[in-house]
Amino acid sequence: MANAHPHSGKLGGHNLTVVHNGIIENFAAIKAELLPHGATFMSETDTEVIPFALANALEHSAKTLAQAVHAVNGKFHGHYAFVVMKQGDATRMVGTRRGAPLCVGLGEGANYLVSDPLALAGITSRFMYLEDGDVVVITPKTVEITDENGKPAKRAVKVVDQSADMAGKMGYRHFMLKEINEQPAVVSRVLQAHTNSSTMLPALPLGKLALGKVPFINIVACGTAYYAGLVGKYYLEQLARVPVNVDVASEFRYRNPPYVPGGLFIAVSQSGETADTLAALQHAKAAGQHTLLLTNVPTSTMARTADTVVNLLAEREIAVASTKAFMAMITTLALLALQLAQARGMASADVAGHVAHLRTLPTILTSLITEMSHEKGTLAQLAERLQEAKSMLYLGRGSLAPMALEGALKMKEISYIHSEGYASGEMKHGPIALVDKELVVVNLAASHDGLFEKTISNLKEVEARHGQIVLMTDAAGANQLRESGQVHSGMVVVEIPAVPQALLPMAFAVPLQLLAYFTATMKGTDVDQPRNLAKSVTVE
Ligand code: F6R
Repeated sequence: MANAHPHSGKLGGHNLTVVHNGIIENFAAIKAELLPHGATFMSETDTEVIPFALANALEHSAKTLAQAVHAVNGKFHGHYAFVVMKQGDATRMVGTRRGAPLCVGLGEGANYLVSDPLALAGITSRFMYLEDGDVVVITPKTVEITDENGKPAKRAVKVVDQSADMAGKMGYRHFMLKEINEQPAVVSRVLQAHTNSSTMLPALPLGKLALGKVPFINIVACGTAYYAGLVGKYYLEQLARVPVNVDVASEFRYRNPPYVPGGLFIAVSQSGETADTLAALQHAKAAGQHTLLLTNVPTSTMARTADTVVNLLAEREIAVASTKAFMAMITTLALLALQLAQARGMASADVAGHVAHLRTLPTILTSLITEMSHEKGTLAQLAERLQEAKSMLYLGRGSLAPMALEGALKMKEISYIHSEGYASGEMKHGPIALVDKELVVVNLAASHDGLFEKTISNLKEVEARHGQIVLMTDAAGANQLRESGQVHSGMVVVEIPAVPQALLPMAFAVPLQLLAYFTATMKGTDVDQPRNLAKSVTVE
């Protein structure tokens, strides 16, 4: 299981070893209960409580390890999964899940317990996904599941195609670079699957969802998926004119928000396992909202919870820093906005016109990636300078404001350079105090969004305080600056091809991803597996 270390505990005649994911919230109380029974703890971890609690259950009430697991499930609070073995019995494992993922991999003459099918790529493609409270006992030849009430249960066998995972890095130095390069293909796949090639209209599989009547939308997600949600708000409000709230899942779930009756709740999650997003989804579903999930893993826990699921079709993303899944998210949200706009009266010809723009994306992205990946290109040269940077500020307006947040997140998570993203208009309200000759300010600006002049005035403020300026803009913007004599020797201009306004977030994603990637590789950090981060965050 991801990030899990085995812990052993011996009590009475029972010597058990446990591997655990997640958190046992009341572990201190359980520990206090176990101490008088002779448990001797070697660590301060919640994991260590599990083998002792199980051994104690076996001493006093449970006849089998599975019964002991059911008994401790009744006592533990939290969001977790664990697997336990008796020392000396290597042929039997018992596992359970409450919130955190756990599934059974069915092999030839061997069965497995894993939190993520990816761990078994190349070994098996057949999996049983456990439900909350299930307890499973596996031996090399048998799988027995009991549900949370201890009753025998059957779980469907799902086939998970992992051939893409097996392909490895395909000659790329890192998975992240491979995944950046896969983005044109991902966008093609999304457009092919979710648009009608003869009418050019969006055709997301939304089942019975009455789009025309949706009065309000909540989009809830974490991290990069949250930033995709912010881009989605822009599309949904601009194109479909529906009011949208976007929230980080950890805030949303604890705020007990009032829901608009008949509202649509959209969870966005690459993994479909993020604990906070899952909890928010469950909250919205219980409140009677129609729940729609955009996920890259249609077999995930969230997919089994939501009313409607749209597959992001990005195929497995292995690098911790999300790139191609983000691209799939914003493309899918753009299509959703258009489908909603059509349901609310936008003329089909106009909708089809927008889809036609989206269809140009794969070609635009391909040339952008090729051009910007050049080892001696502007981005690589800039990255060389950034190796020494201590702090960076990313600024953008309109649909590029969330891209500034995403650019800063990509940079900080893989290069470990402190980076913050802000809406440009916020600069004067605080961040400007940070500007000195050390600070790198990356400005994202499109020349045709009516806000370019304001960007220039932001740049002047940074320049006056000797900040290091990077301007990412289209050719017209770069020309406008050059013609007005405002490009100074220290300023780096990253030129992006002119694209229709709706495609700005996708086009700007590429240089932002590559700038972070180049900087991290030059600094020598672990690009695919950055420190302290996990690919799916199954605990709060
Ligand atoms: C950043 C990144 C994370 C995830 C976040 C949500 O590059 O990958 O911020 O976006 O942990 O994960 P999912 O989308 O799986 O819910």
